[in-house]
Amino acid sequence: MKTPLALLTEFLRFPSISTQPEHAPDLEACAEWLHALLSEIGLAATVYPTPGSPVVVAGSPHDPAKRTVLIYGHYDVQPPEPLEGWATPPFEPRIEDGRIYARGAADNKGQILAHILGVAETLREKGSLPVNVIFLIEGEEEIGSPNLAEFLTEHRSDLTCDLVAISDTAMAPGNRPALTYALRGIAALEVIVRGPARDLHSGLFGGALANPATVVARLIASLHDDEGHVRIPGFYDAVRTLAGWERDAAANLEAVSGGDEAIKHLAGVTELVGEKGFTTIERIGARPTAEVNGIGGGYQGAGTKTVLPSHAFAKLTFRLVADQDPAVILNAAEEYLRSQTPPGVLLEIITGHSGSAYQSDPNSPDGLAARKALEGAFGAEPLLLRDGGSIPILASIKEILGVDSYLLGLANPDSRIHSPDENMVVENFLGGIRMNRILLEELASIS
Ligand code: BES
Ligand code: ZN
Repeated sequence: MKTPLALLTEFLRFPSISTQPEHAPDLEACAEWLHALLSEIGLAATVYPTPGSPVVVAGSPHDPAKRTVLIYGHYDVQPPEPLEGWATPPFEPRIEDGRIYARGAADNKGQILAHILGVAETLREKGSLPVNVIFLIEGEEEIGSPNLAEFLTEHRSDLTCDLVAISDTAMAPGNRPALTYALRGIAALEVIVRGPARDLHSGLFGGALANPATVVARLIASLHDDEGHVRIPGFYDAVRTLAGWERDAAANLEAVSGGDEAIKHLAGVTELVGEKGFTTIERIGARPTAEVNGIGGGYQGAGTKTVLPSHAFAKLTFRLVADQDPAVILNAAEEYLRSQTPPGVLLEIITGHSGSAYQSDPNSPDGLAARKALEGAFGAEPLLLRDGGSIPILASIKEILGVDSYLLGLANPDSRIHSPDENMVVENFLGGIRMNRILLEELASIS
């Protein structure tokens, strides 16, 4: 068997970009690579085709006397662009100063591979596992898992388990171990504003009709008031307030994490801006937001071109918290945006992927087992986090398989996931292998 780092390097060489159709063969090759590895370590592995990227499932022999943990991960990655932001090419892994740099290093290849290698080590040393293990590794997480809920429903009986363990989140600031007990949900929406039948001369027509790019800018501006609150009527209606212990956990995190200065540093900004009345940690973990992910329209080339664009667009996502319903939010957003659209243009709205927020109990027996595993592997008591990112399938897992998911993040907070120069601290990867081994033991000791 190759060394953990050699395996990670191989895994990272696949440009398994789920959002770009031309990479479908790379996703398939990556799934096959996982299949070979999971088979080599002694699990019964299968690659299942779906209408999108394949799903890889692998399991240890099922012992009905043991508990079962399903370990979820994803082998797809975000696009690496902008390429000029990378010091070295995104699919040619580089190790420097104790970190491995490549697209997918932390999100999620390094993290899921740590679990696979933890299981491999235990099997090699002991010949069997203390709990039954099922790996479920998908290739469409970064596009909202469009085929996974159906897969879970179809394969439900093969995926029966007591809990789900996932390492697809980050450690706390300062690279301290953390159990993430809440993730935000998401709802995506694209707005297209159509005006004149074709791009027009901005001198001959400027001043006489609505400019779609201006309309898009005004629509975006209308999303927030001056205090950073989202102006969509009803947006906050279902938002759950924090329990006492959660406020304590947030205060504890604030105290040890370097506060706003650390977040400014991570983001590379000089000021933090957001909803009035909440701390930064609350804004990221416990409050819903409306964000613009992309905006376009009109001339984008070199120099100037005097046109009125025929159309313009914005790509939006809302981050949601319990108990907001993505469908309700998308409807409210559409209605609000229509109400803000001036006459003379056509508003087209395309809704995209969505998923509810997810929360599990860090004080449940499995939550405590997860915390012990993190502490054992990383030598410090884990903090409890609400993280701002989303893993939309978690709500479906709860619905379809009826079990809770525990998030044992291994990414360093400065891992730059989704950004150029994504990286993972090698010690987090190796610690993740130890963490998996302790986790399986701890889970086995729960009756
Ligand atoms: N691994 C992330 C989610 C994450 C990262 C949660 C760090 C908490 C901390 C995941 O791969 C991701 O990026 N999810 C997307 C989901 C979307 C594309 C549907 C997200 O959050 O944008
Ligand atoms: Zn991601």
